[in-house]
Amino acid sequence: MDRFHIVGGSPLRGEVIISGSKNSALPILFSSLLGGGLEIANVPSLRDIRTAFSLLSQLGIRAEPLFSENPEEKNGRWSSSPSKDGWVERYRLSEDSISAHEAPYDLVRTMRASILCLGPLLARRKRARVSLPGGCLIGARPVDIHLNAFVRMGAKISIDHGYIDAHTSGLTGCDIHLPYPTVTGTENILMAATLARGVTRIFNAAQEPEVNDLAISLNARGAHIEGIGTSSLKISGVDSLVDGSHTVMSDRIEAGTFLVAGALLGDFLTIRNVDVSCLETLLGTLRDMGANFEEKDGSISISRILKPRGTSARTEPYPGFPTDMQAQILPLMAIAEGPSTVVETVFENRFTHVMEMNRMGANIDIHGSRAFVRGGAGLEGASVMASDLRASAGLVLAALIAKGESEIQRVYHIDRGYEKIETKLESIGARIKRVRGEEIS
Ligand code: UD1
Repeated sequence: MDRFHIVGGSPLRGEVIISGSKNSALPILFSSLLGGGLEIANVPSLRDIRTAFSLLSQLGIRAEPLFSENPEEKNGRWSSSPSKDGWVERYRLSEDSISAHEAPYDLVRTMRASILCLGPLLARRKRARVSLPGGCLIGARPVDIHLNAFVRMGAKISIDHGYIDAHTSGLTGCDIHLPYPTVTGTENILMAATLARGVTRIFNAAQEPEVNDLAISLNARGAHIEGIGTSSLKISGVDSLVDGSHTVMSDRIEAGTFLVAGALLGDFLTIRNVDVSCLETLLGTLRDMGANFEEKDGSISISRILKPRGTSARTEPYPGFPTDMQAQILPLMAIAEGPSTVVETVFENRFTHVMEMNRMGANIDIHGSRAFVRGGAGLEGASVMASDLRASAGLVLAALIAKGESEIQRVYHIDRGYEKIETKLESIGARIKRVRGEEIS
């Protein structure tokens, strides 16, 4: 297993370019199961994206990488023969066969988002057998809301031997009131509804920008979705989708992670390819802590907060403070003057990184869903263990500000969701090296 060796304290300056969003690319890739060809650009090169391609290939989707003839020119010509540096961020997906319908445990266990194949399979192939994702370190994460919606739309669902077995003679639109605005749940229902008979309305839908990106990509392929960006989506089912293309939005969580890095160590760090409108709540929290920003055409610049102040944050569905940024804001709170509080309302067990941060000198107490951060800590390098994707990013930030050397074990978690993170950090001045270990499956 690879690990990171980090020497803390180096200022971060220059420019970093944000990649395409993982959480947007995944549902859009799975939407290729609805039929109609899809050309998708700005796909990040990540472990989770490779898992999605493996699963899609088992389900009869052909993904052809497209290479730029001029790698510097994103809007230039793209062809199926490799360019000089083999630069790939664009794929053409098409259906080879529509008989397969099983998502096996081996793939689903490594990526919970595999559940996103359920809606499209049911709608297009009328049959799906998908391994139950099971629990994970950040909480139980059930999929009951997805399943209840499909039953209301006319699917018959049973659970056997750890698999969801679902079939239908044809999904029918209806009104669905979500008890919680689940992100992948909304996306799954949205995809299924595009090919259902009649009108589906989803109330209390998730309003995350990634849900909007999926809806926009589906409309570009002939779906009829209204209310995009609101909590009430109306989907008028169509018989089939047509060929279309889409460019994945930039990753707001990667952008947020670099913003916090800038607040800790920036010496006029510029973050490019950012949709600032998706980051309002995080920017508000950073402003409370003393940060100033300079915004210009899809980029934002930030310098180290000289005397960060403690504050409070409460994770909530969008547009609230993102749970996916909770681990990263903690190192800044740990060194701030005065106490801070974080309330985690989205996942029940998302503080596994706190013990490791405390080993680096932070002073954080957990009481149920609340983290009380004493503040004023001077972090010190240590050997720590990453436990999930965003927890690893939080530990990397803690190590960057810590005095001395740190080792972060199990960075395969971070490879699931951050494209070339060590290359990007090194290019802006961080002292970070990947130490190669045995490959894990
Ligand atoms: C997505 C994101 C993840 C982010 C999360 C919250 C992707 C691939 N992942 O995860 O990065 O942290 O949104 O912003 O987009 N729940 C139920 N029953 C359900 C579904 C969800 O009880 O059927 C609960 C979950 O256990 C959790 C909460 O709802 O406590 C939020 O989960 P959800 O919004 O579904 O998160 P994901 O879509 O899994």
